[in-house]
Amino acid sequence: MIPQSFIQDLLARVDIVELVDHYVPLKKAGANYVACCPFHSEKTPSFSVNPAKQFYHCFGCGAHGTAIGFLMEYQGIGFVDAVRELATQLGLTVPEERGVNPETRGTLRRLTECMELAAAYYREQLRQNPQAVEYLKARGLTGKVAARFGIGYAPEGRQNLARVFPDYAALPELASAGLVAENEQGQRYDRFRGRIMFPIINPRGEVIAFGGRIIGPGEPKYLNSPETPLFEKGREVFGLPQARPALRAENCAIVVEGYMDVAALAQHDVGNAVATLGTATTPMHVQKLLRQVDRIVYCFDGDAAGRKAAWRALENSLESLADNKSIGFAFLPEPEDPDSFIRKSGQAEFRRLIAEAMPLSSFFLRELGRRCDLVTAEGKARLIHEAKPFLLHIPTPLLRLQLIKRLAEASGFSQAEVERLCGIKSHMPPAPPKAPRQAPSLARQLARLILAQPALLARIPLENLPPGTERAVLEAIHQALPRLPEAPSYGQLREALRGHPLEAELEALAGDLIDMDENFAVETEFEDILKKLAQNRQKTSFAALQAKARQFGVAGLSEEEKHAYLQSLKEGAAGSAT
Ligand code: UTP
Ligand code: MN
Repeated sequence: MIPQSFIQDLLARVDIVELVDHYVPLKKAGANYVACCPFHSEKTPSFSVNPAKQFYHCFGCGAHGTAIGFLMEYQGIGFVDAVRELATQLGLTVPEERGVNPETRGTLRRLTECMELAAAYYREQLRQNPQAVEYLKARGLTGKVAARFGIGYAPEGRQNLARVFPDYAALPELASAGLVAENEQGQRYDRFRGRIMFPIINPRGEVIAFGGRIIGPGEPKYLNSPETPLFEKGREVFGLPQARPALRAENCAIVVEGYMDVAALAQHDVGNAVATLGTATTPMHVQKLLRQVDRIVYCFDGDAAGRKAAWRALENSLESLADNKSIGFAFLPEPEDPDSFIRKSGQAEFRRLIAEAMPLSSFFLRELGRRCDLVTAEGKARLIHEAKPFLLHIPTPLLRLQLIKRLAEASGFSQAEVERLCGIKSHMPPAPPKAPRQAPSLARQLARLILAQPALLARIPLENLPPGTERAVLEAIHQALPRLPEAPSYGQLREALRGHPLEAELEALAGDLIDMDENFAVETEFEDILKKLAQNRQKTSFAALQAKARQFGVAGLSEEEKHAYLQSLKEGAAGSAT
């Protein structure tokens, strides 16, 4: 846990406009800065950054957050990493978290340092080794692309890294980073020898692993770093940091199988490709990518192995789908892989293949159809049976409906029958009727003021508010106040409520802040709302007393109630409560 006080301090010092502008050039528009939203694709800007309240909000996709939230979303990193990165930018040190092993961070840092030194050494060796350079050239790669991926060369020889690490024989980090292995006599030797080296780089730009392709004959063709404290295979993809600008520009990630595929595609100006690392696509991969783009196209070989890999990818993608995300499958003609295909057929042909990728629903039906003999009644029933477990896992109603329709067509069952057979209740909820535009309720107006100036909260009796979302949010803010500095910005407030069950409600209310005039008289409006609330309350209680008096007569009221009733009559509070 990072202390809340540190987070508040960080937010007080960072300027979200400067931060965002570094990644997404902003234009001034009134009190805000705007740009086309980096989190969804659009042609006119609906992404606003508010300097006074230190948050961003997109009216198009609902993206919303603070400087920390922006880094998390934009770089696809976790909260702690985002805080660390901001702290580094500001020259602050994150206080060491208690609870976790205090050694851990230092250890990880030492491991990444070793990896970085090794990577630099391999890059240098590539320059000095004509045979390795020749190999890359023969495979169509230029120095520019080699540099883009930090490609290097691990020369032949058993202990080359001893030149980089004087303490080669004893340094524990070399073993735990997977750079060396030990023989039975406990003697160390370099893991990577005579191989073209592909560093795997995390979003922070740190080398966390290597994949090495052998140049000459030998096994295995590719040798990868073992799993280490830095590197967990099912999580990482190769080429992600390099692909980031293209991912954003195209809002689409192409997932291929090999390092060389990614490099060859970049060589032909297809920059948005990444590779899984010799493992099947995992749900973690998919989540990571879909945080950055709305579409994934899997590009696999056209053979049986490629189809199988594609099916695994489909299975592992289902749970991460959302209705605004899409998945496609592109299959290369046998025996090509993306590398050989683009070199033979060129960029345009490759792009066409990606653009014409098979939609998930078609691939799904084609593959299930292959397993069932669809000309027989049994085969058709089997199709539904096979489809059922998948349908139940699809979290997106639109895609599910689409699949159900296609299954109905293919099986000859009606849509309702397919739904019944699969145990799916599937009438889509009717679209909610568009509410007529109303003036915001008093509670909402008040909540907005509080979000603009949280300190005002101390001056309102929350119990005067009608129960509802706004009151619940304000109560949550009230509870957070002690953890906040004196006059917190909305951004600071937002972070203090990270993980709170009412986060979404808070963000929805805060969206209103974007269009709030900076110079309006907060104090006057605040007083005004308080007065109206008090009046409303009085009216409500008067109406209750009046109803009671009508039913039981004034004698039915307690002394206190009588007093209040008469008082109200005198003050002329009569009239129906609003
Ligand atoms: P491929 O065998 O398809 O190789 O492995 P490739 O990428 O086309 O390589 P080139 O073109 O012959 O150089 C695809 C991916 O599977 C992993 C690697 O990540 C590789 O890029 N792999 C393959 C291994 O990890 N180890 C191996 O021995 C082979
Ligand atoms: Mn290949």
